[in-house]
Amino acid sequence: METVSFARMADGTAEDYRLLATLEEEHVRQLPERIMQALHALENTLPGYKVSRLEHSLQSATHAYDAGEPEEMVVAALVHDIGDDLAPVSHSEMAASILRPYVSERIYWIVKHHGLFQTHYYNHHFGRDRNVRERFKSHEWYEDCVHFCEHYDQNCFDPDFESRSLEFFRPMVERIFSRPRNRFL
Ligand SMILES: [Fe+2]
Ligand SMILES: [Fe+2]
Repeated sequence: METVSFARMADGTAEDYRLLATLEEEHVRQLPERIMQALHALENTLPGYKVSRLEHSLQSATHAYDAGEPEEMVVAALVHDIGDDLAPVSHSEMAASILRPYVSERIYWIVKHHGLFQTHYYNHHFGRDRNVRERFKSHEWYEDCVHFCEHYDQNCFDPDFESRSLEFFRPMVERIFSRPRNRFL
């Protein structure tokens, strides 16, 4: 395979960077498939719940889909815990960062804050404040994140729920992660 001429980026030529840009574009184009693989891998994470992390994600996306949410919200629900393995103490930020180039600021914000908002359901059992989310009370998307957690997250651990399959969501994953991207560099 063709490679660049440099060992240090400072020595790279325009031709080098054209080559890398072409290869990177292809790498980005394959993102939907990597998202699907990462979702598959959630089958084996986080013991203790009655359902796997993958099943939780499918229930989340199914609820969003059945509620008639826009496609970017359905896909956000599907991937909202995709960071559980590699970012166990900051998984919300990881999922939000993956979504950010492809979704609205509102969806990004909801996913980024869902972990903190979810503490409403258990913090008091540890003697902690279950209303830490209220520090965002005046934020324009506060209620949206409360709604996400109530309807597409805390209720998605049901072993008897009939969720749609991961393959059902594949075309949505492909469409959302193939959108023209917002740039953050
Ligand atoms: Fe989460
Ligand atoms: Fe979740």
